[in-house]
Amino acid sequence: MHPMLNIAVKAARRAGQIINRASMDVGHLKVSVKQQSDFVTEVDRAAEAVIIDTLREAYPQHSILAEESGATAGSKGESDYQWIIDPLDGTTNFIHGFPQYAVSIGLAHKGVISHGVVYDPTSNELFTASKGAGAFLNEKRIRVSSRAKLAEALIGTGFPYRMFDHADAYLAIFKDMMKKTAGIRRPGAASLDLAYVAAGRLDGFWEFGLSPWDMAAGTLLITEAGGLVGDLAGETDYMATGNIIGGNPKIFSQLLQIIAPHKTAKLAA
Ligand code: IPD
Ligand code: CA
Ligand code: CA
Repeated sequence: MHPMLNIAVKAARRAGQIINRASMDVGHLKVSVKQQSDFVTEVDRAAEAVIIDTLREAYPQHSILAEESGATAGSKGESDYQWIIDPLDGTTNFIHGFPQYAVSIGLAHKGVISHGVVYDPTSNELFTASKGAGAFLNEKRIRVSSRAKLAEALIGTGFPYRMFDHADAYLAIFKDMMKKTAGIRRPGAASLDLAYVAAGRLDGFWEFGLSPWDMAAGTLLITEAGGLVGDLAGETDYMATGNIIGGNPKIFSQLLQIIAPHKTAKLAA
């Protein structure tokens, strides 16, 4: 395993321990509302702190972009390396004791994601990938599914829950998907949804309005597992727009076709 990936795994496992300990007593969590339907707990913050400490100890010069503390330059200023961190992806699930949440850590080098970890502390499933070296689940190689027919495909998504500008376009797409696929799931942690596409548990995924920390690690998992990710035009702008489609290559192109007619001025690529 590449040393940088190894450090990311160490950081993710440490955060996972904090999350697991706290999950035993979610009734006493202190929850703050960042904005409508956007929650943060002391667990998100503690998990982020331990991740940043672990990464900084090994790579003090690297820059960091983390959900709760924002962007920080490295010890020598902005670096070509940037760690992109979601310390607890799926906070709403976590608060409810609904066991679908994860730690997500990606490393971008000159803007290209080169390593990624998604760790599910509940199931102890560790998804890892390094650019050009494949994707793994608990050290076993994973690949996207080979399912080609949309009618047989299981598709993951995330519902709009805060910004409702795209709600109508989203629901129109949802209706089409509902008719044309074998089923749709909304598990509630985007990084894990992407990891599930990489592992072939989902054949495809779409969501609008995500943040870089939701996607950084998961997108590398998918491409390293032989899948495709893109924005609504099938291009590479998803980290900037937050609008993402992923899947095995055959399902990916069919998802693009379903979504294309629903693109609106607001719902840009
Ligand atoms: C959220 C989850 C969810 C997705 C939201 C994200 P958070 O992350 O990934 O699945 O639908 O858009 O914000 O806030 O729990 O880290
Ligand atoms: Ca998130
Ligand atoms: Ca989060």
